[in-house]
Amino acid sequence: MSIELRDVTYTYNPGSAYEIHALENISLKIPDGQFIGMIGHTGSGKSTLIQHFNGLIRPTRGEVLYNGENIWEEKYNLRHLRSEVGLVFQYPEHQLFETDIITDVCFGPKNQGYSQEEAEQQARLALAQVGIPEEYYQKSPFELSGGQKKRVAIAGVLAMNPKILILDEPTAGLDPRGRDEILDEIALLHKKRGITIILVSHSMEDIAKYVERIIVMNGGKVAFDGVPKEVFSHYRELEQIGLAAPQITYIMHELKARGLDVDTGATTVEEAKESILKALHKNQGGKEKS
Ligand SMILES: Nc1ncnc2c1ncn2[C@@H]1O[C@H](COP(=O)(O)OP(=O)(O)O)[C@@H](O)[C@H]1O
Ligand SMILES: [Mg+2]
Repeated sequence: MSIELRDVTYTYNPGSAYEIHALENISLKIPDGQFIGMIGHTGSGKSTLIQHFNGLIRPTRGEVLYNGENIWEEKYNLRHLRSEVGLVFQYPEHQLFETDIITDVCFGPKNQGYSQEEAEQQARLALAQVGIPEEYYQKSPFELSGGQKKRVAIAGVLAMNPKILILDEPTAGLDPRGRDEILDEIALLHKKRGITIILVSHSMEDIAKYVERIIVMNGGKVAFDGVPKEVFSHYRELEQIGLAAPQITYIMHELKARGLDVDTGATTVEEAKESILKALHKNQGGKEKS
């Protein structure tokens, strides 16, 4: 078990006229190796929550534990924590600042104490894994497209070999193709490196296909937390908090309501197809017999 939050509450500007209760009594565990989607509409507390995972934000109340240790104990090594729990911010501009891409991606590993040569080796590997070709290495990060900037920002964190990779809305502002490409690459990273991934998004559709667990945030609280099937079964409640289940969920419920015996828990097009074919087959089989 890797990260644990116990009863975490976070208030921005406490005691002032601008006081905002961003998180209220959050308790959750993030075990090793999970691929998690975190979803919720704007202002629900996602970004505030994930910054607790690597100690960028200190809870107003409650505890954050990493491998069983309280990260806010006096002698705790936060620097080490931050190299194990990598966070890619929503706006890559906040993360890219060197004159060329390779130097930018080397920054993390060099900061971890690796030699120039070792840092560059890790940077090259990370850039290759996010699909940035070598001819880009000398370019300025600011010459890149939105999608490429995101990839370089992800590579910058990956180069530090994190055990946990947190991505804050990596698909925001991308077109559908750029979005699918980046999500596919993230899924591949999970498969290849076996690291824990927390993917923050405000689109169910985006994450339904990839993740094994969905945490739904609403008003600074965890509204739902479970496997996608289970979370989507609350599609009516999800709508009430401004979220929609994937369209597949609606189609399957509609088919079921019209008398076709399909699995309403299907979350991907592939699963839906199989379930519909099976139900149709069963119907036909039934007819033939009678
Ligand atoms: N730096 C900040 N200062 C004050 N309030 C903030 C700050 N960052 C976020 N908030 C507020 O905290 C709440 C949660 O925001 P945030 O964690 O950014 O949500 P999300 O990432 O889901 O959009 C919102 O009401 C937001 O306005
Ligand atoms: Mg956010």
